[in-house]
Amino acid sequence: MHAYWNGEILPLDAVRVSPLDRGFVFGDGVYEVIRLYGGRLFYADRHWARLARSLQALSIAPAPDPAALEDALRQLIAKDGVEDGIAYVQVTRGAAPRTHAFPAPPVAPSVLAYVQPIPRPASIDRGGRAVLYPDLRWQRVDIKSVNLLGNVLAKQHAVEAGADEAILHRDGLITEGSSSNVFIVKKGIAFTHPATNAILNGITRQLVLELMGELGLPVVERPFSIEALWEADEVFITSTINEVTPIVAVDGIPIAGGKIGPWTAAVRAAFSDLVE
Ligand code: PDD
Repeated sequence: MHAYWNGEILPLDAVRVSPLDRGFVFGDGVYEVIRLYGGRLFYADRHWARLARSLQALSIAPAPDPAALEDALRQLIAKDGVEDGIAYVQVTRGAAPRTHAFPAPPVAPSVLAYVQPIPRPASIDRGGRAVLYPDLRWQRVDIKSVNLLGNVLAKQHAVEAGADEAILHRDGLITEGSSSNVFIVKKGIAFTHPATNAILNGITRQLVLELMGELGLPVVERPFSIEALWEADEVFITSTINEVTPIVAVDGIPIAGGKIGPWTAAVRAAFSDLVE
């Protein structure tokens, strides 16, 4: 396995990260996960736009050039022979003596990328199981930062409960999943949390909103309650890795009889058409 590290392609285990790197010390960095299907990057442009936005929000500069990153990723895909998988791209503020404030003068950001095989998710067909978990995260989760402790604790809770995903709630409202966005369908209308600072505006979420328009499924971007989740006709989550995954049970209790609903199936099929 190989990596791109600050302008070079080298074996992953030859990458040497400084112990003073602010990503390592403060979680002061951002990342993207881009899907690979058949060795091709899926909607990379949207990921580059979000990466630029995250970097700008944290004043990390200069941003890496997307064309250079894509070139590096293509080399990594070829070298490591990855077909269906992901590309991981991370940019931190760089290495500097420890002080909370940004280094002055600024240092060069550290840029890391690698690709890894991940098959298309099995839970797409069988339906996934979720558990509820409090949203413990900070108030700028619209920035795709590597500070993921709230997400890590939520996902671990799900794993220990034998579930696939944790659905997060704050003040009685569903925000998103630990690494996904959440949609419900009720009486032929879809609902999902609006793209505020309380969620990450997923690329898959954005694609699904567009597909819903084409499918004729009205969608309202409005926060919905835990009760609305329980009473939903259909629940599904979206993410780069897990695409459109139906949720058939929450906290061990079946949603709408534990069956994959017709709108979920339609959205899933429309998304698969984008992939294939
Ligand atoms: N996670 N919300 C959170 C908190 C996420 O971490 C993710 C993605 C999403 C979905 O975004 P997208 O559709 O752009 O993948 C929503 C990535 C895949 C990860 O951390 O592995």
